[in-house]
Amino acid sequence: MTDQTPDSISRIVQGFDAKPEMLVQILQSIVQTHGWIAEDTIRQLAGELNLSRADVHGVVEYYHDFRTEKPGKHIVKICQAEACQAMGSRELTTHANAAVDADTTIEAVYCLGNCACAPAVMVNGKTIGRVDAARFDALVSDMREAD
Ligand code: FES
Repeated sequence: MTDQTPDSISRIVQGFDAKPEMLVQILQSIVQTHGWIAEDTIRQLAGELNLSRADVHGVVEYYHDFRTEKPGKHIVKICQAEACQAMGSRELTTHANAAVDADTTIEAVYCLGNCACAPAVMVNGKTIGRVDAARFDALVSDMREAD
């Protein structure tokens, strides 16, 4: 993850020939590069793509993956879809929110394709099944040791 500078955003926009119809792809590229989309970036995109800020905001808000707050160093996604909810993902989420520090961002997702091993979480891109509070604490401990 790198800092979002006007130059870095302009380079991404130019990579798509500054075409307003490529807004979704541009936003995806920004998230891949920087991890999130800052308000200043939304303003810049509106200017460079000749769109209104409301247009850009509308797309950013529509897609769950277009994060508008700087994430922590670690991303933990906890599945909130039906099978995982039935196996305690809400309680796990409450536990997780209390167990992590600002270095870790907890996000809700809706099915990680691991329903048979509910509740499922994804830690820094790796899917892990049958996660209870104790297992979650062990995963957090492993993350901190790997820092
Ligand atoms: S419902 Fe949670 S992984 Fe599918």
